[in-house]
Amino acid sequence: MAHEINNPLGIIAQGAQNITRRILGDLPANHKAAENRNLRLEDVHEYMNDRNIPKIINGITSAVDRAGRIVRNMLSFSRKNQDNFREHVLSDLLDRTVDLANNEYDLSTKYDFKKIEIIREYDSDIPMVCCEGSEIQQVFLNLLKNSAQSMNAKVYGSGGPKFVLRAYEREGWVNIEIEDNGQGVDQTVRKRIFEPFYTTKKVGEGTGLGLAISYFIIADLHKGNMEVYSSPGNWTKFVISLPLTQSEESGVIPKG
Ligand SMILES: Nc1ncnc2c1ncn2[C@@H]1O[C@H](COP(=O)(O)OP(=O)(O)O)[C@@H](O)[C@H]1O
Ligand SMILES: [Mg+2]
Repeated sequence: MAHEINNPLGIIAQGAQNITRRILGDLPANHKAAENRNLRLEDVHEYMNDRNIPKIINGITSAVDRAGRIVRNMLSFSRKNQDNFREHVLSDLLDRTVDLANNEYDLSTKYDFKKIEIIREYDSDIPMVCCEGSEIQQVFLNLLKNSAQSMNAKVYGSGGPKFVLRAYEREGWVNIEIEDNGQGVDQTVRKRIFEPFYTTKKVGEGTGLGLAISYFIIADLHKGNMEVYSSPGNWTKFVISLPLTQSEESGVIPKG
């Protein structure tokens, strides 16, 4: 998937560079094209500056850099040997991520966790699974943030924003469910939701990478599954399933 992201990123970066050269550069061809239109290139430059075009192009370039860094992180992670895979109770990882989100909310003003009611429906004896804890927490954080953003943008008639978090084991898989009662996603969005760069948010509020990276972490790195269910206008539920490894199947780790 990294290549699918890198190719369009390259085109965007190169495009931004060409636009800069052809509009803002002092090239003979630029002067000539301007003259052909009875314009002075200096006037064109001034117009561009007045309209903040260089700043906008810089914004594109730095966003591409940022996305490139994310992709490189992903690549370096998938190349790493699996040293950081350890046994974890997924519901504990989820609880730690909720704590993290609670303390982080003021960094990103678009959501406020403290207002959100949290209901936990965890089975009591959830077996451990072997996983990269920090990557799994990254996935949970992406999901919690999306949910919080969606709930934040919704006007509630009765009741208020609410998470239902579930953890249970079924047939060799440990499942985590994160359900919110936010805006929901319709079928069009649901079909594309895991695509890199797919976002319905305004520029600056979303990159469309959160779920693509989450899917990569779950499906590619952990051989797990990730699915989304929704009733538009009412709720959205993400289900993450990680396989139990053989060593865990022998012993069930009691919780609490
Ligand atoms: N819990 C949710 N409720 C409603 N819509 C969601 C939810 N999670 C994801 N989405 C939709 O999926 C899109 C892609 O999500 P994501 O990959 O995290 O990118 P981003 O959050 O940057 O837009 C979002 O723009 C939003 O439209
Ligand atoms: Mg997101």
